[in-house]
Amino acid sequence: MSQLALLGGRKAKTKPFPIWPQFDDGERRALSDVLEARHWWRTPGTKTLEFERAFAEFHGARHGLAVTNGTAALEVAMAALGIGPGDEVLVPDFTFVATASAVLFTGALPVLVDVLPGTYCLDPRLAEAAITPRTKAIVAVHMGGHPADLDAICDLARRKGLMLIEDSSHAHASEWRGKRIGTFGNAATFSFQASKLMTAGEGGIIISNDDGFELKARSIHDCGRMPGEWFYRHFIYGSNYRLSEWQGAVLSVQLGRLDEQTRRRHQNARLLDRELSRIPGITPQQFDERCTRNGQYAYIFHVDKKHLAALPVGTFIQALTAEGIPNQASYPPLHELDIFRNNEYRKCLDAQHANDEHGFLKQSFPNTRRAAWETVWIPQPALLGDEQDMQEIGAAIRKIQENAKQLLSPETHIASTRATR
Ligand SMILES: Cc1ncc(COP(=O)(O)O)c(C=O)c1O
Repeated sequence: MSQLALLGGRKAKTKPFPIWPQFDDGERRALSDVLEARHWWRTPGTKTLEFERAFAEFHGARHGLAVTNGTAALEVAMAALGIGPGDEVLVPDFTFVATASAVLFTGALPVLVDVLPGTYCLDPRLAEAAITPRTKAIVAVHMGGHPADLDAICDLARRKGLMLIEDSSHAHASEWRGKRIGTFGNAATFSFQASKLMTAGEGGIIISNDDGFELKARSIHDCGRMPGEWFYRHFIYGSNYRLSEWQGAVLSVQLGRLDEQTRRRHQNARLLDRELSRIPGITPQQFDERCTRNGQYAYIFHVDKKHLAALPVGTFIQALTAEGIPNQASYPPLHELDIFRNNEYRKCLDAQHANDEHGFLKQSFPNTRRAAWETVWIPQPALLGDEQDMQEIGAAIRKIQENAKQLLSPETHIASTRATR
């Protein structure tokens, strides 16, 4: 029996994981070029334009529109698709708040739908059951980098005449049946926030193959201007969502590393699948064979406390952190957020919609609750490590599973029962 690091034992992790974010002289040169060119905003510059073209091409899309962040990408995409007051948009209950708040931003209602128990992505059958005459669109979130079931969701969108947005904030370079995600629906959005698979600290992009959508989105993101028209003509409602040249320049260099980094993260995650599925009580996020590459924003696994001396997941996470393995919080279910519980979300809706009964908020969302409160997320930079790093992650988890009872001494037992999850 080996003593857990949380109780003073030796850490299972013996060497540090790779540092994130990664950069080299490429980023230094790119930033220096922007500095010297004195074009620091995108309108006279070329760096953001070059980046959006390269990122779109990488994902097999005709258009890319860089914006300030992934939330803005969703907001601009929704507005450019014409979603507005009185409409409903199907959104998974298990995602970051922005997926739903962007719908509220347009005045429409995000209708929350439970996820599948294995991949934690939108359940297509429950999505179909949630459709009403007001439903306009579906947002598929590729959770942790694993694509949602794009066969079933595209089929549903086609049959019901709904628009599809892929919230790909976790899924840069992910593939479904050999094709990169991002062009399965009307538009896809990505985030370049600091923890994402490539980053400029903040940033986002929308990609699409629809020329009309692209023109409208570009106008919305630049105060309602139209390309080629006089600077002070404003044709439609818009705002300022422009990305700076600094970020465009850095992101071009980061994009150059994405393919190789994705290959490594995907490969390491499959190694972890094999290691962890042998440990009682540990179930990795399901890997659907139709996912030919997972961008792997995080390595997600479920912990069944029945096999870990009934330890709360919060205590498991403390023990894992003490062993030297980083952890990233899972999302709480959207339906449990204050904004939905205190009815603040209704203030964004048109009068009729605001006064309706929203039955979906009374549902129990069992798969989302399980994903929210019983999974553990290892952040993506750890997956850039080598085979030894993966073995040490496996060894740390096995050590905790085998020695979970150590954490049930009177003091630690009290601490663990106080843990929130
Ligand atoms: C699924 C999802 N959608 C949207 C966003 C919003 O991106 P940003 O933080 O760049 O606004 C995030 C960010 O974490 C996310 O995880």
